[in-house]
Amino acid sequence: MITSMKNAFSVEGLNVFITGGTQGLGKGMADGFCEMGANVAFCGRNAVKGAAVVEEIQAKYPNCTIKYYECDLLADGAIEKVVEDVIADFGTINVLVNNAGAGTFFDSMDADKNDWKEWTRVIDLDLTSYFKMSVMVAKHMREQGWGSIINITSNAAEIVNLPQRMVSYNSAKAGANRMTKMLAHEWAPFKIRVNAIAPGYTESDLTPVGDQEELNKLYSFWTDHTPTGRWGKPIEIAAMAIYLASDASEQITGSVFTIDGGYSLAN
Ligand SMILES: NC(=O)c1ccc[n+]([C@@H]2O[C@H](COP(=O)([O-])OP(=O)(O)OC[C@H]3O[C@@H](n4cnc5c(N)ncnc54)[C@H](OP(=O)(O)O)[C@@H]3O)[C@@H](O)[C@H]2O)c1
Repeated sequence: MITSMKNAFSVEGLNVFITGGTQGLGKGMADGFCEMGANVAFCGRNAVKGAAVVEEIQAKYPNCTIKYYECDLLADGAIEKVVEDVIADFGTINVLVNNAGAGTFFDSMDADKNDWKEWTRVIDLDLTSYFKMSVMVAKHMREQGWGSIINITSNAAEIVNLPQRMVSYNSAKAGANRMTKMLAHEWAPFKIRVNAIAPGYTESDLTPVGDQEELNKLYSFWTDHTPTGRWGKPIEIAAMAIYLASDASEQITGSVFTIDGGYSLAN
């Protein structure tokens, strides 16, 4: 409960679990939470990158507690195991950030040609893993009497991104926004808040593979269509995540916050 603006935005001492913190937005949020005095657990599939993130962040904030967990969210039983491990080490999870996601470009008419893989892979990671992780962490939050879950979705949930074709990604992100509202309503009696952040194009390592000249044209197109004239930065996503984790947002649940420099206004 906010009693004074002085500590309304504090996340000091909270235990935050971020999926996919080895690079990009997840790393930016790990950095932001550590700077603000939270304890951070994060996961990924790349131990070398995970160790490098821990080393880099700990060098910046020597007093912070940050730990990497190796986990492929798509592997059988991996979500259950990583939640158990984080709770065993940290004691509690106060804030969950479902962030690990990936997109793919393909024409829908070709979706059957590779055994539907481009559809299922993205739906499994960007929607189903968010749901499973939320459920496993929410059981624990229900016991502790409160919690904040933050789903990183995308402005792609609401718009047709051009010129690329991304049916599975946009569908998964739209599903995650709807899931956010469903879980927010269902879990409010347990004082578990569930919100989403929907970024637009943001500087990260989530870059499509392909011909560099074509990619450069795509990036220019995206920048030219962003009213603020630039892409977002991970620290700007972190700032919203910190707000949603803190008491300042205690009356907010089931909301989706778009951070895209106005891109979706006219696209
Ligand atoms: N960047 C953008 O422009 C943008 C825009 C809108 C929304 N978003 C959303 O923001 C989130 C983060 O995107 P990003 O740009 O930071 O992506 P990114 O740079 O590709 O990072 C993705 C993170 O997820 C982890 N990850 C991927 N698959 C995983 C799996 N199966 N199990 C565990 N971890 C996995 C990766 O770790 P490992 O490689 O170590 O496994 C990595 O740390 C995503 O949900 C994305 O859809 C991004």
